This record gives sequence, C-alpha cells and structure tokens, in this order.
Amino acid sequence: MTKIRTYNQISSKGLDRFDRAQYQVGADQQDADAIVLRSHKLAPDEIESSVRAIARAGAGTNNVPVTHCTERGVVVFNTPGANANAVKELVLTGMLLSTRGVIPGMAHIAKQAGGSDNAALSKQMEADKKQFAGNELAGKTLGIIGLGAIGSMVAGMAIDLGMTVLGYDPALSVDAAWRLPNQVQKIENVTALLANSDFVTLHLPVLDSTRNLINDEMVSAMKPGLCLLNFARDEIVDHDAVIKGLDNGQIGRYVSDFPRYELIGRDDVILTPHIGASTAEAEENCAVMAAEQLKDFLVNGNIRNS
Ligand code: MLT
Repeated sequence: MTKIRTYNQISSKGLDRFDRAQYQVGADQQDADAIVLRSHKLAPDEIESSVRAIARAGAGTNNVPVTHCTERGVVVFNTPGANANAVKELVLTGMLLSTRGVIPGMAHIAKQAGGSDNAALSKQMEADKKQFAGNELAGKTLGIIGLGAIGSMVAGMAIDLGMTVLGYDPALSVDAAWRLPNQVQKIENVTALLANSDFVTLHLPVLDSTRNLINDEMVSAMKPGLCLLNFARDEIVDHDAVIKGLDNGQIGRYVSDFPRYELIGRDDVILTPHIGASTAEAEENCAVMAAEQLKDFLVNGNIRNS
C-alpha cells in the first residue's frame, strides 16, 4: 500500500484520483511515500526518509525546502497553469477596483444606512456620484513582469480588453514565453516597461534574482501615478520602496494579495488575503494535476513539472 500524507484542505476531486485499494491518503499518514500540500510551510524534519516525492498544489514551491529535497533525492512537483485563470480574473478585479469608484462608492452608500426615504437616497446619490467617476482600462498600457502560465493568460485578457501589453521576463527569453499572444510587445529592459505602463502586474516566483525586484530604483523608473499589482509573492517587493513611491505619487495605487500592517488603511492600497488561487475551480484543477503527476511518478517513474 502506498501512503500519501496531505496538508491543508486539498480538493477531494484530486485526492479521489488515488484508488483506495492501492493508496492510503490523509493527514495522519506516517512513513509516507509522498506528500501533497498547498500552503503549509513544510520543514525539512517533516520529510521522513520514506518520502520520495512532494506535490505542491499550486504554482510556487517557496513553502517547500526544495534544496533539501534535491540533496535528498526527493522530487518536488508543482502545478503550473492549473490556477492561472483564477489569478488572471483577480488581476482584472484589482485593475477595475483601482480605477472605478466601487470601493469608495460602497463605503459612501454604507454611511447612509438607517434612513427610509429611498427616493431621497437616490437623489442624494445622483448628486454625489461625480466623486466616484473613474477611468476605463481600454486604451491603457499594462506591463507584465513574468511571462509564465499566469502572465501569458493575463496578457491575453488585457489584449481582449483593448489594452496595449508590454511583457518582460527576467528568467525566460521572451520568445520562449508560455503561450504568449503575439500582440504583446516584448521588452528587454524592465525600466522601459515601468516607464511606459499605466498598470504593472508581477507574475514571478521568489528567487534570489527576483527578491526585492521592485526596489527604490525600479519605483523611480515608473511612470508617475502607475498602478502596481502584486498577485505573485510578497518577497518580490521592497515595501519601504513601495510606501515611499505611494507617498511621493510615483505609485498611484498598490494592489496586493499579501497584506502587511504598514499598508492597511491607506486609500491608495487595495489588499486581499492571498486569494489569487482561491476558487473552487482552481483548487480542483491544482489538486487533480498534483495527484495525476504524483501517481505517474510513483507508478511509472515519470517526472513532470519538477
Ligand atoms: C500558487 O503558488 O499558485 C498560490 O500561492 C496557490 C495558493 O494560494 O495556494
């Protein structure tokens, strides 16, 4: 019997791929052959000598001690692309919330609670609505840093919205980028992308080369008033630099899926609780892909997305 230990709530649609006649699956499995996890930060001492593979149901593997695993010969899989649509849709939400008066408009309406004259409320809101006018995305320029599965999907969406799209990837030759639509203007120099974009969205893994990529120098290179979106990882941004940029107007809005105390309560910041991949569909896709890759390895020795 092959034993699979799980961490976090992994979608049962994925775990059901393990035939229980051959696999024992659950959080309580000790001396496991493999581990499946989502966001649990796995410590080296949680990987017992019996473990041969770890499947991360998601794109990033920064919660797995990959170097330790490599040294031990433990294969680490991820599930690239499986949650890309969910992240893409939240990038759109972030761009729209940063340009349209939805959040301040809702807060304004909430302050009116307690009355009963709806005709008067409606008249007042018609008078007040000019405070909540916004801008459209069509005709604006989106810069995408990171052209993997998610960045490429975001590019396709932005083109459909009538945006101009600039793309840069520090790790990948832009020509090799994953399913990148050919309307994307490939930029070799990140500062040129920052200087010419109204919105910049980050879609990079955490690596030594990407940690604090958005620093003082990059913020200074930005088109003043730009909207920066971070649905990738907190570590890619130097928060002191972002706060300075917000304070001096170099950054108009910061939209981040990684809440930090120093950013809470600012009108120019929109924070979400790391929900980029949190849809039922993405959770199922990641769990199914993780389970299928793991089985293929355990049964056939095939290694995919390692
Ligand atoms: C990812 O790396 O794909 C996301 O962080 C997934 C998640 O939220 O679990």
